[in-house]
Amino acid sequence: MKTIDELLAEGVTGKRVFVRADLNVPLSGTTITDDGRIRAVQPTVEKLAAAGARVIVASHLGRPKGAPDPAFSLAPAAARLGELIGADVAFATDTVGESARATVAALTDGKVAVIENLRFNPGETSKDDAERGAFADQLAELADVYVGDGFGAVHRKHASVFDLPARLPHAAGDLIATEVGVLKKLTEDVARPYAVVLGGSKVSDKLGVIDHLLERADRILIGGGMAYTFLKAQGHEVGNSLLQEDQIPAVLEYLKRADEKGVEFVLPVDVVVSEQFPDLKTKAPSRHTTVPADAIPAGVMGLDNGPETNKLYASKLADAVTVFWNGPMGVFEHPDYAEGTRAVAQALVDSEGFSVVGGGDSAAAVRILGFDENAFGHISTGGGASLEYLEGKTLPGLAALED
Ligand code: 3PG
Repeated sequence: MKTIDELLAEGVTGKRVFVRADLNVPLSGTTITDDGRIRAVQPTVEKLAAAGARVIVASHLGRPKGAPDPAFSLAPAAARLGELIGADVAFATDTVGESARATVAALTDGKVAVIENLRFNPGETSKDDAERGAFADQLAELADVYVGDGFGAVHRKHASVFDLPARLPHAAGDLIATEVGVLKKLTEDVARPYAVVLGGSKVSDKLGVIDHLLERADRILIGGGMAYTFLKAQGHEVGNSLLQEDQIPAVLEYLKRADEKGVEFVLPVDVVVSEQFPDLKTKAPSRHTTVPADAIPAGVMGLDNGPETNKLYASKLADAVTVFWNGPMGVFEHPDYAEGTRAVAQALVDSEGFSVVGGGDSAAAVRILGFDENAFGHISTGGGASLEYLEGKTLPGLAALED
């Protein structure tokens, strides 16, 4: 993989450099609630601009359906990038149309533009190679050089991630280089004990990584919505909690394999429950109570780990030398259900081990809950991407930068 410094050494002055970033930031209306992913690509943008490149930053945001949708506009992200780099950032209101072509043509050396959400074009995510290729051809006309730095999207075989680098001289940006360097530490010669905390809503999203980790981790701590499928698999009632019944056989198989391999599987011992899902907009106080995880009453749903679980998880993380954490422990966006996520973050801050926070949600959670990012070993910008990397899969966006 060519590095950005090698690219700079060849000279980029006056060249149009297409930077595929991941500016898929959480938004409330047009307000960015966590700008971590924009800050993460800032060094690459600044380096290129300082070297006199004409920088075109491109990204997806959310999952629009292949057509323009103002709710998913990248305009707020472009404005934020401008604030961060302290320079005007031009904005094209389409991807490869008149606006994009005119905006790029108007760029002068050292200036930066952002083009509109790539997923406003159906070719970006198409499963049809020809349709994706046709969009990549149009994108390629905008630029002379490609820099891949959208780590959060490298697991997607999308036009701007996979097909475009095949059409232009390419290099990996600093963010991708850093992310891959850190994730290597979790896949080669891991320092032990190696503990993994997995949360989030769906077990089905985590099957591959659990399968892989059963061969590598010493401890796996489960939280968030996916914990209820594990509790149910152990024969406990879970009331109205999130449940993936169809995953129970897989979960039982994992629990059995963990037992055979001596991998410690840790599940919540108490949970915070409520009759209703809380209002995340108003954040109005919501009626809740804590119950043992093996005695969840009918009619309530589990929304967070309870205090005994928080203590237990902190103790399981205290002596870990390597920790990977993906997925919140509860509905952290609401103050009544943020403690489980906060407790895991605090345990990582307190630990002397090397901790990696992987995932858009868990990374945003630590920042939204007010933790100092520097207190963690590394906060990855990739959720699905870091999980798939740990699963040992070939990631299209990394493979495309290899040759
Ligand atoms: C993410 O948020 O994990 C990345 O930006 C990828 O987004 P996607 O899951 O919609 O492809």
